[in-house]
Amino acid sequence: MKTEGSLRDDVGEILITEEELQARIAEIAEAISTDYQGQDLLLVCILKGAMVFLSDLMRCISILHKIDFMAISSYGAGTETSGVVRILKDLDVSIEGRNVLVVEDIIDTGLTLGYIFRNLGTRQPASLRTCVLLNKPERRLTTVPLDYLGFEIPDKFVVGYGLDYGGWYRNLRFVGVLKLESMASRI
Ligand code: IMP
Repeated sequence: MKTEGSLRDDVGEILITEEELQARIAEIAEAISTDYQGQDLLLVCILKGAMVFLSDLMRCISILHKIDFMAISSYGAGTETSGVVRILKDLDVSIEGRNVLVVEDIIDTGLTLGYIFRNLGTRQPASLRTCVLLNKPERRLTTVPLDYLGFEIPDKFVVGYGLDYGGWYRNLRFVGVLKLESMASRI
């Protein structure tokens, strides 16, 4: 694994700029603040990819809410879904009778979010919705409701703003596509 070189140089194309991300997140947060006004809201962040999104989103939400975290295994170090989904870290709190909003970075095949949605649905929440930053609709294998959506993107493997390639690139402020040679050298 090579660790030298600038992060930015590894990116071939910027798909969504920092400004576009922040503007859209402010809009989503406003919609959430209106929709859940006066209700008990729990944001469930799916680790690790959604933590940057959650951190900006929650600071734009103007109503009282709490957060909790879940970690799910989906991809290994590469770019293809394994199809195997399991809970690595469960919620700290019960969601029975609560309004739960699942915050996820990206939906591709839908296997990960579909599993989470069905799993949380069995725990008797008062309501269960999803808030997803990026939607790659082309490879969907299962239907999951997308209640709040940031951006629709093409079927390209993207990094940045929490999304990783083999654990790298989460700290980029934008969403971009890696150069092919960078993908080869960073694993
Ligand atoms: P799905 O189960 O195929 O919908 O994939 C969802 C999960 O795969 C996300 O939570 C991400 O962790 C990961 N993922 C899917 N597409 C990408 C991508 O383009 N870049 C980085 N991670 C991705």
